[in-house]
Amino acid sequence: MPDILVTDDGPVRIVRMNRPHKKNALTLAMYAAMAQAIEDAGSARALVIAGGADAFCAGNDINDFVHMTKTGALGAPILHFLHALARCETPLVAAVGGVAVGVGVTMLMHCDYVVAADHARLSTPFVSLGLVPEAASSMIGPRLMGQARAFSLLVMGKPLPAADAKAAGLVNAVVQASEVENAALTAARAIAALPAEGVRTARRLLRGAPDEIVRRIDEEAELFKQRLQSPEAKAAFKAFFDRSC
Ligand code: COA
Repeated sequence: MPDILVTDDGPVRIVRMNRPHKKNALTLAMYAAMAQAIEDAGSARALVIAGGADAFCAGNDINDFVHMTKTGALGAPILHFLHALARCETPLVAAVGGVAVGVGVTMLMHCDYVVAADHARLSTPFVSLGLVPEAASSMIGPRLMGQARAFSLLVMGKPLPAADAKAAGLVNAVVQASEVENAALTAARAIAALPAEGVRTARRLLRGAPDEIVRRIDEEAELFKQRLQSPEAKAAFKAFFDRSC
């Protein structure tokens, strides 16, 4: 079974992260497949990003981070995916069934409607890992939730329970775990039923020009690449894989 499943349900495209044994940690191949699914959305009028019942996404695969500390490059598919998110013209809905970490959280800042399970926890331990926030979260985060909450999440790495994420404006609806997918699909279908050109135009007005977001993604990526080489990052990755030894 592929790690990314793409299905079209009438006007709604569902892009599912499907690597449950690794809590949907994203490999470069998964980023590439997701970027393509977004860019090829074609006639879809809403796109749902989903994960699994216990994990939405555990962030970037830390093995890939370790590899990047050796090559000195940030995997091109990562930037491709982030640019695709920022430039996507199709409304994005997320179904967060469980834990979301790192890019599993920052991708939500590009979504238009986010449904989370009541037990879901969102966290971005970038700084603890010796890294910096990515996906333009350093710009969208403070705008969305205010400097204080953005600092707590993105710099201090404090986890945000689903209810707090809703209060912070990052999540639209918190529902029982068994209802997450239904609620996300219902929202996606409701968006898809609206006049398509009107949705696209209104959405563009709300989000502003994507160029500014893409520029921030690229600025962050440069710093992220440098931070991957830091002794702090290397020690944090080693600690993650040593934890069960
Ligand atoms: N990269 C690589 N592997 C990961 C991973 C990641 N980001 N997240 C989880 N995994 C792997 C674990 O190593 C483990 O693999 P194993 O079974 O071969 O040992 C498997 O997925 C299950 O993870 P586990 O930690 O046992 O599950 P959990 O339910 O106890 O915790 C998380 C889930 C997501 C809270 C925890 O795995 C975690 O903190 N992951 C790292 C998240 C992270 O820092 N991401 C980068 C953000 S920038």
